[in-house]
Amino acid sequence: MRFKDKVVLVLGGNSGIGLAAAKAFAAEGALVHFTGRSWRTIEEAQNAIPGSTGYQSDIADPAATEDLIARVEAADGRIDVLYINAGVGGFAPLREITEDGWDHIHEINLRGCVFALQKALRIMGRGSSVVVTGSIGAHGALEGNGAYAAAKAGLYMAMKVFAKELVGEGIRVNVVSPGPIDTPLLHRNPGMSEADVARLKEMMIANIPMHRMGESEDVAKAVLFLASDDAAFITGANLFVDGGLIELR
Ligand SMILES: NC(=O)c1ccc[n+]([C@@H]2O[C@H](COP(=O)([O-])OP(=O)(O)OC[C@H]3O[C@@H](n4cnc5c(N)ncnc54)[C@H](OP(=O)(O)O)[C@@H]3O)[C@@H](O)[C@H]2O)c1
Repeated sequence: MRFKDKVVLVLGGNSGIGLAAAKAFAAEGALVHFTGRSWRTIEEAQNAIPGSTGYQSDIADPAATEDLIARVEAADGRIDVLYINAGVGGFAPLREITEDGWDHIHEINLRGCVFALQKALRIMGRGSSVVVTGSIGAHGALEGNGAYAAAKAGLYMAMKVFAKELVGEGIRVNVVSPGPIDTPLLHRNPGMSEADVARLKEMMIANIPMHRMGESEDVAKAVLFLASDDAAFITGANLFVDGGLIELR
């Protein structure tokens, strides 16, 4: 019960990794607030996580995030743990990247995440902590992954800077960088058929030293560790949860 009576906000908590983390926070006593875009899966998640509150809120829109923070404040007064997890994928090689495609990924995965932290800080105090979902995509070159890799690399570096800015205020900021995790994200790549996804998974598994895809719960466990007082002396860190893919190259 590391999060008993702690107020936890998961941005992107109605699917995949964020949903697993929201469930795990609640199981350890947290008052869980979470967001997403799809109302159907927000409702499903709310039913699956007793006592939780789901909000439809687009992280790409900082004004919507500001409104969300005010609603969390009205309900519980503060945020003890902010988990910034919302993200989208999208493969396109350099010659095929469109300006709209680039902007879409960056508005969600980088710009929106940065302003979410800025807005939430207003109700975060000493002893609170922030965890952000990065990606191994920011640490290795994968063809077609330019827009996503650049956004996650930017996010990683921005969060290191913010960790330094906030250390004196007693707020820790850490990044968890998943490798290939079996979530709905893999099935949301525009232009990829189910057969393409199956081939991509096989290729990924062949390259992972542990020879399996990760599960959302593998990442959630790392998120809870970094968010908890067990990690009280850790800030500005990046934790790979990738079956050894990056560190054992
Ligand atoms: N799966 C992997 O292999 C992998 C690897 C490395 C990093 N990651 C990162 O892990 C994070 C979670 O991804 P996942 O794999 O769990 O995929 P997922 O199941 O697609 O979950 C993505 C989450 O982000 C939310 N989201 C997306 N755009 C949003 C927006 N504009 N505003 C608010 N919420 C938004 C989604 O809500 P809706 O469903 O309502 O849109 C959903 O809750 C992402 O940041 C992703 O980049 C994943």
